[in-house]
Amino acid sequence: MSLEFRFLGRDDPLREQARELRFRVLREPLGFSRAEVTVEGENDSILLAALEEGRVVACVMFTPHTAERGQLRQMAVHPSRQGTGVGRVLVRQLEQAAAAQGFEEIELHARDHAVGFYEKLGYAREGAPFIELGIEHVLMRKRW
Ligand SMILES: CC(C)(COP(=O)(O)OP(=O)(O)OC[C@H]1O[C@@H](n2cnc3c(N)ncnc32)[C@H](O)[C@@H]1OP(=O)(O)O)[C@@H](O)C(=O)NCCC(=O)NCCS
Repeated sequence: MSLEFRFLGRDDPLREQARELRFRVLREPLGFSRAEVTVEGENDSILLAALEEGRVVACVMFTPHTAERGQLRQMAVHPSRQGTGVGRVLVRQLEQAAAAQGFEEIELHARDHAVGFYEKLGYAREGAPFIELGIEHVLMRKRW
């Protein structure tokens, strides 16, 4: 599998593919319609995509909160590519880009079933689980 990683600017036509992937992987299974999907702060966020033969197979978003800290959001890997290491490389690439821009810390809201994935990447749980989008999440954080 030959993967290319690319930051998608605001006008990049691949953004639409990334949006559809996020809808299919993250929101449709929870019963949301496309019309109900809004992602706050999307225009102020960095969007990183993994491409295979020009198609978006995974994507993740980073939203700055302060000059040192931001939030990893909307992490989605196409079902046919899950468990093949794409997610790990995508997060690593995002961390490197964030560090290069002076960020020192990433936080995220992990879905219950994805906590183990983020733990493997060095993120630590913080506080009690909470409900977001109707399902259990955990706040996780990594500092470097
Ligand atoms: C969760 C998700 C992002 C992980 O990405 P992925 O590409 O499937 O994961 P990788 O193949 O890179 O896995 C990296 C490591 O994490 C482990 N891992 C992957 N998913 C895991 C999970 N849900 N729980 C525990 N460990 C997991 C892998 O076994 C691998 O371990 P290894 O280093 O021992 O080999 C992806 O499966 C996905 O998009 N799931 C559906 C949407 C979702 O839940 N997004 C996260 C919302 S917070």
